[in-house]
Amino acid sequence: MKMRRLVAGADHGGVELKDELVRRLRDAGYEVEDVGTHGPDSVHYPDYAIAAAERVASGGADGGVLACGTGIGMSIAANKVKRVFCAKVNTVEEGRLAAEHNHANMLAFGGRITDPDTAWSALKAWLDTDPAGGRHDLRVGKIAEYETAPGTPGVGEPR
Ligand code: RB5
Repeated sequence: MKMRRLVAGADHGGVELKDELVRRLRDAGYEVEDVGTHGPDSVHYPDYAIAAAERVASGGADGGVLACGTGIGMSIAANKVKRVFCAKVNTVEEGRLAAEHNHANMLAFGGRITDPDTAWSALKAWLDTDPAGGRHDLRVGKIAEYETAPGTPGVGEPR
């Protein structure tokens, strides 16, 4: 699927990178919903990761990009949302493979780890690469099945 409608989110550690990636995405013709944060004040990354991930899970966006200081907290939080496959990437090759092998529908970057040009190249590689399907579909399907299967810890229990 070619993604055209994206959502972006960051905490204070990733806001500069997020703002730069949103600017470049919009310049490149993508529709981007920016759920914040919008400044340097200290905030809590799960609030933004989950808000953005829920947009992807509900179909309000085709995919999403997240940033915090390392990308780690954002990716962990986003992956708690069902139907979200968020890959934390540092390189162009990882961006490409996150699409081709892992069928990721979100990427997370570290604003204190990855420079904007590398992050942009990785993001473009992800956006421009089609899922390989085949055995990779099978593997990704196993994860999707686990997250909703009866017997999976937490499934069926009230939130
Ligand atoms: C905030 O200082 C930092 O912990 C956060 O941006 C992120 O790196 C968490 O994973």
